Amino acid sequence: MHSRHRFSVRLARKFRKLFSRDAAQSLWEHVCRWTHPVSARRILATIDRAELEKLRRHYPYRPNARRINAYEDAAYWLGVNVKHIQDLWLDRAPPLHILDLGCGAGYFLYLCRLFGHEGLGIDTDEDPFFEGTTQFLGVRRVISRIQPQTPLPDLGGKFNLVTGHRVCFHRTARDENGEWLEWTPADWEFFINDIRTRFLKRNGRLLLEFNPRQNGSSFFTPELRDSFLSQGARIFRRKALFAANPNERPRFRQIR
Ligand SMILES: C[S@@+](CC[C@H](N)C(=O)[O-])C[C@H]1O[C@@H](n2cnc3c(N)ncnc32)[C@H](O)[C@@H]1O
Repeated sequence: MHSRHRFSVRLARKFRKLFSRDAAQSLWEHVCRWTHPVSARRILATIDRAELEKLRRHYPYRPNARRINAYEDAAYWLGVNVKHIQDLWLDRAPPLHILDLGCGAGYFLYLCRLFGHEGLGIDTDEDPFFEGTTQFLGVRRVISRIQPQTPLPDLGGKFNLVTGHRVCFHRTARDENGEWLEWTPADWEFFINDIRTRFLKRNGRLLLEFNPRQNGSSFFTPELRDSFLSQGARIFRRKALFAANPNERPRFRQIR
C-alpha cells in the first residue's frame, strides 16, 4: 500500500513536470509569434481558392480518405504553415535554400517563396491532387520515395534548411493489428547522417515535426528520444532540430 502510494505521488509529480514544461514551451512559441506577426489573411488573398476547389473536383477524395486532410482548405493550411514559417524565423531570415521532405500540397514551400526563399520538395506521386496543387502554387518537387537505409537521390546541391512537417515517411506498413510498423533508431541514424553529410550546408539545419501517435502519446518514445538526443537533436515539443555538425546542439533561432 505504502509503496503504491509513493509510486502514484511520483507519477503525479512527473506528469505535472511534463505538463508544465510543455505548457511553458507552447507559451514561448506563442509569444515569439505574437512579437513577429505575419498576416495569414493577406497571404490568403494571394491564392485563388476557387481554383483549388476546382482542382479538388478534378481529383476527388479516394474512397477511404480521411477528410481531416482537406488540403483544398487554403485558409486552414496557410494558418498552420504560417506558424511553421514563424517558428523557423523564415519571415526574418536572409534568402535560404530549403528542401521539404513529404511536401504534400506545397503550402509550406509556397510561403517560403513569398518570404524570399528558394524551395524544393520531395514526395511520392501517390496523391494526384498534390501534383495539381504544387503546380498551381508554383512549387518545384522531385518524385521520390524516402526509404529506410537508402540514400536520398542526388538533388544537385545542398540546403540551408531541410524540413519535414507531420512526417510519415518513417511508417513502412501496417501489421496484422492495424498498427504502423516504423523505422528503427538505426534507420533514423542512417537517414540523419545522409541528410547531414549530403544535403546540409555548413550551418544548415534539419527540422522534423511529428504528429502524436494514434493513442495520443508523443512520437518520441523513450528509445527514440534517447536516440535523437544522442545524435545531437534539440527536441522541442513535437519537433526535433539537428545541426549539420553532429557535435552542435542547435537552437531554434535564425538560420544563416
Ligand atoms: C501527413 S502528409 C504531410 C504533408 C505536409 N508536409 C504537411 O505538413 O502538410 C505526409 C506527406 O509525406 C508524403 N510521404 C509519405 N511517405 C513518403 C515517403 N516514403 N517518401 C516521400 N514522401 C512520403 C505523403 O505523400 C504526404 O505528402
